[in-house]
Amino acid sequence: MYPQRRLRRLRKRNIQPLFRETTVLKEDLVMPVFFDENIAKKKPIESMPGQYRYPLYEAGDIAQRILDKGIQAMLIFGIPGSKDEEATEAWNENGVVQEAVRMIKSEVPEMVVITDVCACEYTSHGHCGIVGDTPCGPDLLNDPSLELMMRIAVSHAEAGADMVAPSCMLDGQVTAIREALDEEGFDDTPIMSYSTKFASALYGPFREAADSGMAFGDRTTYQMEPGNAREAFLESELDLSEGADILMVKPAGFYHDIIASVTSLGVPVAAYQVSGEYSMIKAASEKGWLDEKRVVMESVKSIKRAGADLIITYFAEDIAGWIDEEQ
Ligand code: PBG
Ligand code: ZN
Repeated sequence: MYPQRRLRRLRKRNIQPLFRETTVLKEDLVMPVFFDENIAKKKPIESMPGQYRYPLYEAGDIAQRILDKGIQAMLIFGIPGSKDEEATEAWNENGVVQEAVRMIKSEVPEMVVITDVCACEYTSHGHCGIVGDTPCGPDLLNDPSLELMMRIAVSHAEAGADMVAPSCMLDGQVTAIREALDEEGFDDTPIMSYSTKFASALYGPFREAADSGMAFGDRTTYQMEPGNAREAFLESELDLSEGADILMVKPAGFYHDIIASVTSLGVPVAAYQVSGEYSMIKAASEKGWLDEKRVVMESVKSIKRAGADLIITYFAEDIAGWIDEEQ
């Protein structure tokens, strides 16, 4: 008549913690940071309350601040002084990312510095590589863009990056970058590929953050259609076969099923809680409609539960603080 199986027995306040399946740790987190060559003091990103573009000279201090909170890894983005059709600033040895990496690695060598390898912040048209005419109109050209990514990745490694993260969704991006790195003696530099990256409306605030909006078109001919789960798996499988050390699913929150499937490939998987995921939680919290801390902790726990080993999130520093409060 009454239940034999009572799951609430283990849900008593004192017993429950013994059976917690998923805990987010500081070492699971990566903090994305924007450095802007054009500014002399930090500039708020309006669409991402609490996030800033930082001037280059602050790079070491920012890295130290993040490390002091217990976050061991940063993902670096740069806003260059000038843009052109070929994104030449993206592989300038004295470019904004290259300088930021050099400063961080000299001042805070313990920090794991990961660089985003893409061209959209550096091209005048805002697309992720070289654009040219195709029978369907102007579009991103795959193989010429690969050459560009090879140069960018090598320049980041030469500056001292611990890891490079190609995010342009070109076919063959991992093979090309691996070969270029190996050729220059960086055979020990890991590649974290944005292997399954969807064409998501959730990147909206990032376009303001990184000044990477497009002059025409959109990214749907290189980033993935959000409804395609089988293709999402294939994208990551291909990057793994090309030699990716870490795979990535992006965005994270709407794509838990994809994270779970990519995890079955057997290599570490990162998930990127993107700008729009951040801003949605921030906006609702500012209005008093959501409890920010609880929603953030639930969101990252759910990403880890889906199988992610690494979570890239603009909340990384806040989360580190909240983890400290609990202890
Ligand atoms: C560059 C890049 C983007 C993001 C990371 N790397 C923008 C894009 O693809 O349009 C998005 C990150 C975010 O929204 O937080 N290709
Ligand atoms: Zn891009």
